[in-house]
Amino acid sequence: MTKPHIIVLGNEKGGTGKSTLAMHIITYLLKEGKKVASLDLDGRQGTLTNYIKNRKEYAKLHHINLSQPEHISVYANPSAVPAIIKQELDSLDNLINELKEQSDYIIIDTAGSDNYLMRAGHSYADTLITPINESLIDLDVIGKVNPKTIKIESLSPYAETVWTARQKRALNRQPPLNWFVLRNRLMYIPNNNRKLLDKLIGELAKRVSFTPLAGLGERVIYKELFLKGLTILDLRESGIDVRLGVSHIAAKREIENLMEAVTR
Ligand SMILES: Nc1ncnc2c1ncn2[C@@H]1O[C@H](COP(=O)(O)OP(=O)(O)O)[C@@H](O)[C@H]1O
Ligand SMILES: [Mg+2]
Repeated sequence: MTKPHIIVLGNEKGGTGKSTLAMHIITYLLKEGKKVASLDLDGRQGTLTNYIKNRKEYAKLHHINLSQPEHISVYANPSAVPAIIKQELDSLDNLINELKEQSDYIIIDTAGSDNYLMRAGHSYADTLITPINESLIDLDVIGKVNPKTIKIESLSPYAETVWTARQKRALNRQPPLNWFVLRNRLMYIPNNNRKLLDKLIGELAKRVSFTPLAGLGERVIYKELFLKGLTILDLRESGIDVRLGVSHIAAKREIENLMEAVTR
């Protein structure tokens, strides 16, 4: 694996779990003793930025030593003209080069809609993780399914964005981008929708070259610690007196399995 390694969370759709996953990946790597930088390219919404802010405040308030990433937040100027965009992209490049000097990993969270920062962010990805909810609507963001033949008919704009990022890396003689599409918020009830999605995701994976991962279940523990800036992986250090239930242990395993798959 290239060092420093850049992991980007991306999907041209909001609400699929990018920021949640970014925070879990950051805490996993911090616990592994890695030097982690995090970059919120969705600074306008600022979910990851606020999550990390809450973490700092929680540690201060409770006098505990919680490891923190070196965090930077940036946001895309919606009315920027090409000359300004170029300046901002040059600044982003300088920023990422600086972070590379001081980090083992850089985790980049991106906006759920197309803009110049989101596109640029993708071109830095050694590893790209795209969370999708288990739904045909989420699949549609990557590839269009023909409703008559139930086959992938064409690629969606987001798949083109990833393709462009891959080309840019090839031109710059950088190692190829490794793309993972991860199903998030899985509900453990058998359904026909899942069978159909399995088939279509398999088809799409071959066509645009990504690795499908059955990722995280729908679990309260992935969302309830936001105001404390914590994740399931922090509970021991955080001083919170919780006995880990089966669901907590399963959640921890899910994150560990994900990290094993993407950092292999
Ligand atoms: N595995 C999960 N289980 C339960 N809730 C989740 C899970 N993943 C994400 N969420 C919730 O889904 C919503 C969207 O997540 P978020 O990380 O903000 O998505 P994005 O960054 O892609 O817009 C939030 O309310 C978050 O708490
Ligand atoms: Mg987000």
